[in-house]
Amino acid sequence: MLKIKNLTVEVEGKEIIRDLNLNIESGEVHVLFGPNGCGKTTLLMTILGFPNYKVKKGTITFKGVDITDFTTNERVKLGLGMSFQHPPEIRGVKLGDMVNIALGKKEGEIDESMIELAKRLNIAVEFLNRDVNLGFSGGEVKRSEILQLLAQAPDFIMFDEPDSGVDVENIELIGKIMCELLDRNKLPSKRERSGLIITHSGFVMHYIKADRAHVMLNGRIACSGMPDEITKRIMEDGFERCVELCSVKGAC
Ligand SMILES: Nc1ncnc2c1ncn2[C@@H]1O[C@H](COP(=O)(O)OP(=O)(O)OP(=O)(O)O)[C@@H](O)[C@H]1O
Ligand SMILES: [Mg+2]
Repeated sequence: MLKIKNLTVEVEGKEIIRDLNLNIESGEVHVLFGPNGCGKTTLLMTILGFPNYKVKKGTITFKGVDITDFTTNERVKLGLGMSFQHPPEIRGVKLGDMVNIALGKKEGEIDESMIELAKRLNIAVEFLNRDVNLGFSGGEVKRSEILQLLAQAPDFIMFDEPDSGVDVENIELIGKIMCELLDRNKLPSKRERSGLIITHSGFVMHYIKADRAHVMLNGRIACSGMPDEITKRIMEDGFERCVELCSVKGAC
């Protein structure tokens, strides 16, 4: 579904991603680990086509289409979606309006179906009438992001730290909705949607059994393997040692 080949990306004249390769098949979920500042968010923003992220080399192919030069709007229409690590506050735009846009409606009111969606994420009705993310707590921001994805239902979803700052009960809620969004409740042969999840704590991995994990160091995928094994190595020995062990002992 997503194929990234030899990708090199610059932000503000600084090379952040270097010769990165990544393949995510239809129905697969991958996890991306890596230290602060290694380029994880940059990779996701580049896949979504934000203008500040300049592709210097390489290609991004989605559903067999080379989207390297597509606008963000075109990529989203093709089925890409993302929950942001730090989404902006949007003064004057209500969360309910954003959910309507995500549902494909130009305008509309807060109806019962939207309230039902919000309830599933433990979001009270009054939040739908508030400006997007304005004054939302850290955990509320994460749930508002997932609510918009639930309405949009993209085929390929990128989650940038969906579990950071979220309390234990809401992590379970978010984890379960992510499973649904990523077709994880279906038999492997019936899964069509795919995803890429960035997490530091790995909490969300208790609810989603991912297919593959990657460790990113200095803008490159430094090693890849089975999620449980990679998580254990990172937690016990750190990122660099995990990469060393992978190269000594072979794939995790
Ligand atoms: N607009 C920008 N101008 C200059 N440097 C930038 C800009 N955007 C990102 N960077 C730099 O690119 C590097 C990678 O940032 P990125 O946000 O991708 O890291 P990350 O792996 O997501 O880290 P974290 O785990 O802290 O979220 C950082 O050193 C960051 O300061
Ligand atoms: Mg980040």
